[in-house]
Amino acid sequence: MESAMYSRWRATDDRDRVEYHMYKGVPLPSHLDPKDMDDIQDFTVRDDDVFIITYPKSGTAWLQRIVSLLHFGGDVSKTDRKEQDELVPYFEQKVGDSATFRKLTEVPSPRMMKSHLHFSHAPVQLTQGKGKVIYVARNPKDLAVSYYHFHFLCSTLKTPTSWEQFLQEFVNGEVSRGAWHDHVLGWWKHQDLPNVLFLRYEDLQKNTRKEVEKVAEFLQWPVTPEVIDKVVEESKFQKMATNPNTNKVSGKEAKAGIFDSSKGTFLRKGVAGDWKSHFSDQQSKWFDTFYQGKLGPTGLHFDFQ
Ligand code: PPS
Repeated sequence: MESAMYSRWRATDDRDRVEYHMYKGVPLPSHLDPKDMDDIQDFTVRDDDVFIITYPKSGTAWLQRIVSLLHFGGDVSKTDRKEQDELVPYFEQKVGDSATFRKLTEVPSPRMMKSHLHFSHAPVQLTQGKGKVIYVARNPKDLAVSYYHFHFLCSTLKTPTSWEQFLQEFVNGEVSRGAWHDHVLGWWKHQDLPNVLFLRYEDLQKNTRKEVEKVAEFLQWPVTPEVIDKVVEESKFQKMATNPNTNKVSGKEAKAGIFDSSKGTFLRKGVAGDWKSHFSDQQSKWFDTFYQGKLGPTGLHFDFQ
């Protein structure tokens, strides 16, 4: 079943032919079926469901690792029985003939899932307070750099012709998942919902332990300080980059040809401030002005290092 869908992705080897379709004003990759997107809104959420939601390249995999380690009390012999994307599957992704969310009814609680859905595209029950959402946001400069490199690696995305062209499309919201500010502000406006925990990638970098404690408390999963130590240690970038269950080098997406490891690495640098090696002074000023206009009035701030 899986191979039918994946061979369609492989068939778009000529990346200039990768197309996005518009769903309610947002460009989405071809594997996200409009019918699936409609049906997602009616998904039956359980009280103990955990959704990790992000705009791509914000630290999704890092949170997948943290949440699964917390779930298994920091025991890597349990987390590493499976590839991370099997433990914490990609909710809306279509694999084979069926999107992941359609196969979750049999999965025992607590279900842990990752998603890149906008607030307005998420299951209605989730937006009404059922289940739990951990939303992770990353400063848009580092995110744009990370997304740029990811476009070379991932065959469902259009290969950029240059950094300058990609950056313009990113700011215009002409990339897969649309404008970053629409996504992040959609969730930020609902950060006060009791079932939403809003985190920043930069805070995770500065004080991982504090953020891991916040996650454990939010999920109401009892943990000891020793478990927190283990979660912090095992979710470090270097550990994840050398672990085949988390680095995606040989995972199912690589096997299926969705990721081409000769063109880049999923766990690329894992730092804050890498934007300085990509943005010119002019690009930086233009970008700052644009996002100041979007974020300034909202109270959402980022640390750009
Ligand atoms: S995706 O494709 O949307 O799921 O990607 P996502 O996981 O959101 O983002 C990938 C970036 O997160 C970095 N990353 C980490 N940084 C620090 N520590 C840890 N443990 C970690 N895990 C993932 C990853 O390296 C990507 O950022 P860049 O800047 O490209 O390195």
